Amino acid sequence: MKRDYIDTNEYTKEEIQYIIKLGIQIKKDIKDGNYPDLLSHRTLGMIFEESSTRTRVSFETAMTQLGGHAQYLAPGQIHLGSAESESLGDTAIVLSRLTDILMARVAKHSTVEKLAQTSTVPVLNGMSDYNHPTQEMGDITTMAEHLPSGKRLSDCKVVFVGDATQVCVSMMFMATKMGMDFVQFGPKGYQVPEAQLAIAKKNAEKSGSKILITEDADEAMKGADFVYTDVWYGLYESPLSYDERMKIFFPKYQVNDELMAKAAPHAMFMHCLPANRGEEVTDSVIDSPASIAWDQAENRLTSIRALLVYLMIPSMNYTEAQLDGFNDPTLKQMILDRVDNSTF
Ligand code: CP
Repeated sequence: MKRDYIDTNEYTKEEIQYIIKLGIQIKKDIKDGNYPDLLSHRTLGMIFEESSTRTRVSFETAMTQLGGHAQYLAPGQIHLGSAESESLGDTAIVLSRLTDILMARVAKHSTVEKLAQTSTVPVLNGMSDYNHPTQEMGDITTMAEHLPSGKRLSDCKVVFVGDATQVCVSMMFMATKMGMDFVQFGPKGYQVPEAQLAIAKKNAEKSGSKILITEDADEAMKGADFVYTDVWYGLYESPLSYDERMKIFFPKYQVNDELMAKAAPHAMFMHCLPANRGEEVTDSVIDSPASIAWDQAENRLTSIRALLVYLMIPSMNYTEAQLDGFNDPTLKQMILDRVDNSTF
């Protein structure tokens, strides 16, 4: 059976740990100048209903670096989304015959779910209005690379400041799955919805995380290892005007030096980007030594490479001889382990 990655909450902690390690290992190999041909001759179909910098470029670069190819399928270039559009279901059936794996950035989450229903190849969610799973796989990789001295992920606290965007919800799912404490510091009316909070609470029961949703800055920021924010008024559309949103969030929910000073002294700043400097974050924070926002952007590529490989392993039929072609024995062993433990 094929696997997808539509929802940040759908993978187990063990799968996430494997993907983090695989991503870091492939990154190391590539930085050493060794490009493993893990997706040789394979094609990724990339459906974009909305604009994107990081997600689009990361998927396309990942396929090129791993020996495959990516096709950019935008509105107006394929029948999907046109006036007399081909249905989502039919589009997914056809693209499954023509490509090896699909990703989609969509306005509505139901669109990527419908694509996955009839697709016979794996489907990745490149962001929907519900969540942003590939962002979070990159973010958890970045946190793992920037752990405070002597701490494991499960010892850390992440505070999401501002609006309960799909990135906030995804961070909550990922943090509680991995045993991290999660706080949303945001105003009433812009806090994570009950349905999604219930999912996170179930994760927390299993992992030992604590969850707090609060309007109290001191309570929120106390001991925070990671401080994360996102834009206040949606990347593409907002039901409120700029002025209305500023009235709600500014200045209390801006990540500035004063707010960062309430966190742990070693606290690191994170942002999924793009950022509206001077609104949800000041230049003094995003450009400070505490900012790991640029590592996060780079790790979109790190985690997307690993996710593509992870989802494609069952259909790649690697032989030991092929894997011997990789320079790094660690990478070979990781792939063999996945082949052995494959649940597909
Ligand atoms: N963070 C993120 O998804 O960026 P893009 O919209 O540029 O892909």
